[in-house]
Amino acid sequence: MAIVLIRQDGKTASWKNALKAKAPGVPIYNYQEDHPREQVTMAIVWKHPQGTLKAYPNLQCIASFGAGVDFIFEDPGLPGNLPITRVVDPVLASDMSEFVIAQVFSYLKHLKQYALDQEERIWRPKAYRRIADEVVGIMGMGALGTVLARDLTQLGFQVRGWATSKKTGLATPCYSGQEALGEFLTPVTILVCLLPLTEQTRGILNKPLFSQLPKGAFIINVARGGHLVDADLLEMLKTGQLSGAALDVFHDEPLPKDHPFWDLPEVHLTPHIASVSDQDSVVPQLLENYRRLQKGQALLNVVSRDKGY
Ligand code: GLV
Repeated sequence: MAIVLIRQDGKTASWKNALKAKAPGVPIYNYQEDHPREQVTMAIVWKHPQGTLKAYPNLQCIASFGAGVDFIFEDPGLPGNLPITRVVDPVLASDMSEFVIAQVFSYLKHLKQYALDQEERIWRPKAYRRIADEVVGIMGMGALGTVLARDLTQLGFQVRGWATSKKTGLATPCYSGQEALGEFLTPVTILVCLLPLTEQTRGILNKPLFSQLPKGAFIINVARGGHLVDADLLEMLKTGQLSGAALDVFHDEPLPKDHPFWDLPEVHLTPHIASVSDQDSVVPQLLENYRRLQKGQALLNVVSRDKGY
């Protein structure tokens, strides 16, 4: 039994060292090195080249390095019937919450505009917004959304959630399904997308949805670029239906140099860094699943192939 790591972002060596440090006896390979493919039972992947998983005849589990698994389901060469796991981690959730809260306050207090003004030596006070003015709507009330909802509520924001399917036992009011989307959106001044990307949610941040928000609403997309219809956002910013957007994720990453988002002062652009898997926190759960696999026990954080998350 062995583990193969498949990612292309230059971080494989550091993940391999972190995993080895906690499990010195486990054979762990970078997919690019020479390795005995038939021994590999677990593949840990992040945006792996499509088709690479087919090279492992004895694979028993595919684990995502992160919270998202959309890129796994997008692989036409995905082996059938193997369990797929994702990261569910308190550090990932608190990092996400901190990032979104930073974007919310930057928006309320015009911090980006003042940074731009400073470059031009412009002294230009603007009326600011405050917590009491805002209703934050969170689309996606899973492991990340519920922590963000809790933290925003503690800060005094009015918070409401929306999920594709019904959620029970949440501390935050939560709407569910297409039929409740309009009611959810009506008072929302700041809309945060934390949905998993599936066939059902692809392109959900679109003109019909934006049109149901109060005029001047602000969008924060920290989920996947595929949720957003870029042209619809550009149009809604132009008409003033939306006052701005904080975008951390894009259809193509890195965002192509000629994309119109780069030039818009009302777009707050960050390079997919809202919440990044922390090795100290995530390595133990990846290894726990490897041990469970060895013992034939049920794995942690298995996603549903039917739902796609
Ligand atoms: C980051 O985008 C993740 O899915 O963990």
